[in-house]
Amino acid sequence: MSSEFRLSMHGQWSGRLAFILAATGSAVGLGNIWKFPYITGDNGGGAFVIVYLICILLIGIPVMMAEILLGRKGGLSPINTMAMLAREENRHWLWRGLGWMGAIAGLLILSYYSVIAGWAMAYTVRMASGVFVGATADGATSIFVALTSDPERLLAWHTLFMLITMMVVSRGVQHGLEKAVRFLMPLLLIMLLILVGYATTTGAFTEGLNYLFYPDFSKLSSDSVLVAMGHAFFTLSLGMGAIMAYGAYLPKNISIAKTTFMIAGADTLVALFAGLAIFPIVFAHQMAPAAGPGLIFKTLPIAFGQMDYGILFGTLFFVLIVFAAWTSAISLIEPMVAWLVENKNLSRIKASVYIGMLTWFIGIGSVLSFNVWEKATWSIPGLFQSINFFDTLDALTANILLPLGGLFIAVFVGHLMSRRKVLEELDTQALLFKIWYALIRYVSPLLIIIVFLKAIKFI
Ligand code: TRP
Repeated sequence: MSSEFRLSMHGQWSGRLAFILAATGSAVGLGNIWKFPYITGDNGGGAFVIVYLICILLIGIPVMMAEILLGRKGGLSPINTMAMLAREENRHWLWRGLGWMGAIAGLLILSYYSVIAGWAMAYTVRMASGVFVGATADGATSIFVALTSDPERLLAWHTLFMLITMMVVSRGVQHGLEKAVRFLMPLLLIMLLILVGYATTTGAFTEGLNYLFYPDFSKLSSDSVLVAMGHAFFTLSLGMGAIMAYGAYLPKNISIAKTTFMIAGADTLVALFAGLAIFPIVFAHQMAPAAGPGLIFKTLPIAFGQMDYGILFGTLFFVLIVFAAWTSAISLIEPMVAWLVENKNLSRIKASVYIGMLTWFIGIGSVLSFNVWEKATWSIPGLFQSINFFDTLDALTANILLPLGGLFIAVFVGHLMSRRKVLEELDTQALLFKIWYALIRYVSPLLIIIVFLKAIKFI
């Protein structure tokens, strides 16, 4: 049976908007609001942001188009899509390993993602209770520390988040969060704008602006470049099959190029707004930009504690973060669940529960990484310095597995699939195709390889 004429067994998006919403829902998440600001702070600001934006443009966007293309061409779970396309092109069966690597990376990411999403859930309750009214930097920090040093609390929230994720995944793509995303995403953008508006009143707005956009390249190490590139993959949900799995449900008549630009544009906008909201607060209260994973939880409550209607806005904001995390989380286990449904003949419900339980279990390691295991660290000389369980999962997935997945996707689409087939699937203007094809064949893979080699100090 030729792949062109087979509908996905998991259903189809109702149209272009549905796909854009679901893929944007996957892309926009904790990566934009929680991770982007804190790694920007850890890596010195402006220069890091520029490298990140370059990676989005030269690697992220081309690879996203390639990944959607593979997904739609295959129409199956990423593992079976890769197996089938490799067979069609007479390539080695090992190419299905790409699907496997992605599915496993997805589980590992979700295991810690869920713990952080749990923090956001805990914060909706704290916001609503009014504890942050009039909070100082010290007050906000101690509330954060009280939460993260309590493993039982973290475990309870992590469990709750995994439960709601499994609930949605088990119901399948069309009945999932498609409808909620439609108005929650715009609302999130509006809330961020309100926060940016508040940031302009802190007296440190220009300082924040400079920090984000004025590049000081002396602060940029080769590790920072690896983190920036890894984050370009993470924030766009690339390199592990999530977007490939979603692409499988994409109708044939929709332009992959246009949708990619919209998704990447929205994602970048949300991240930059989050940065613009947070850094002025950091500087206005003499806090350290390099506060690590707690950055937004230590800063944003101060803002909400001081603004009019802060309790209302603050609660709403953290509810929106939870939703953003939720729509991302479902895409992290979709590849594995879809594979179990196809190959093991399991119902979606059973597959979601099994995978969810496994992910929940691995997540316990991250729960403990913020308290009892915080100091349980190890190092690989020259590569990772004293990282604990959570840091290890984050570095392994975002900085290694996702870019590696992206590299393989670029090589497969750019060099191993026939140009004719690729052109057929992409169906875009001639010039745009030429530019994209050059990027995916040469620029993106070479950049990924160079950044890797630099990071291990090979060059
Ligand atoms: N992009 C999401 C975020 O920024 C996280 C995410 C969802 C993801 N699906 C993914 C990351 C697949 C890597 C791969 O929060």
